[in-house]
Amino acid sequence: MESSSSFEWSEAIKTSKVFLEEVTKEYRLIVNSALQERFESHSQLSEAAWKALLSGGKRIRPILTLLGCEAVSGSCSKALPAALAFELAHTASLIQDDIIDDSLLRHSEPTVHSKYGSTRAILVSDYLIFSMFSELARYERTKISKKQLAKIISLIANSAKMVAKGEFADILLSAKHEATEEEYFDMISLKTAPLFAAPIAAGVVVGGGRPRFVEHGYRFGHFFGIAFQIVDDVLDIVGNPGDMGKPIFKDVENHASNIVVIHAMSNSDQVIKNSIRSMIWKKDLSSNDSAKLISIFENSGALDHAIALAAKYCLIARNHIHGFPYSDAARRLEQITFALTSGLEQTVKRRLSGVSR
Ligand code: IPE
Ligand code: IPE
Ligand code: MG
Ligand code: MG
Repeated sequence: MESSSSFEWSEAIKTSKVFLEEVTKEYRLIVNSALQERFESHSQLSEAAWKALLSGGKRIRPILTLLGCEAVSGSCSKALPAALAFELAHTASLIQDDIIDDSLLRHSEPTVHSKYGSTRAILVSDYLIFSMFSELARYERTKISKKQLAKIISLIANSAKMVAKGEFADILLSAKHEATEEEYFDMISLKTAPLFAAPIAAGVVVGGGRPRFVEHGYRFGHFFGIAFQIVDDVLDIVGNPGDMGKPIFKDVENHASNIVVIHAMSNSDQVIKNSIRSMIWKKDLSSNDSAKLISIFENSGALDHAIALAAKYCLIARNHIHGFPYSDAARRLEQITFALTSGLEQTVKRRLSGVSR
């Protein structure tokens, strides 16, 4: 494992994606090689599922499961089936999210529905969802109790149900002209946070951790997930599409709730509000409009507000990690929270000053 001294936080200007990938490298390899070993393409359907799964996600959710297990038991191997089940749920949710958002690019590849059409994309996401049961069936060969297995299944089921509710809430909010910050937090507490909270909690359960560690793990994941969605919202506006492998300004185009837009709308005078409104409700946003919007978001303090919120939720998440006994895995979880926000200010500054990488 890499030691923290060899990890130089200030070494270069990097996006949070690159930072996250550095901190989680070894665990991502474990996830990727297991996925490659277990999933094959026999048909157009399984090939599409296989490609969606192996096209280059950061694997944060399964990594949280592995680290949760290691933090309480010293090893992560038992947690692999649960970890992969969460990645399957996540990949399925992205396929559906891309249909909902009509987003054409993911991991720098055409999205499943843009390649095969929405009807086939729905079946690809079904295939991934049902593959979760095949993963969980692997616990037949691993020593865990019935109680542990039932808890893992309920964490997976409840988190996936909450994601569906959250996506639904997002659709309803996007039809409204102005969402409040409170509505936004309620929505992302369903859409995003559960698939961070449940993975780490499930890892702690597999590792035989006490209920208070399960609780700390769940809360860590919840607050980190909130911060994660806020960072994703910031990057939707000022991120680099090449780095992210997905388009930017999608939230604005879809009137989807984005914390930066919500803050700018609720903290600007009527003239600025009207100007934002006139641009975000346009059919085709010109590059001039997006530049104008970015400067409004910067001048109104909305971008700074979002970055400060992300840092705040990472801090709350870290407090829950401090509830775990000190270990390399716990330290890694802590580093993940720093990694999420440490590239952010530089990314935003670089984008705003028009310096391309
Ligand atoms: C994207 O999640 C969806 C959000 C919650 C914002 P990730 O950024 O973790 O997706 P991949 O799997 O790494 O592409
Ligand atoms: C997160 O919302 C998607 C899920 C939680 C499934 P976004 O719509 O912001 O995700 P991206 O930006 O498309 O990855
Ligand atoms: Mg989306
Ligand atoms: Mg997004």
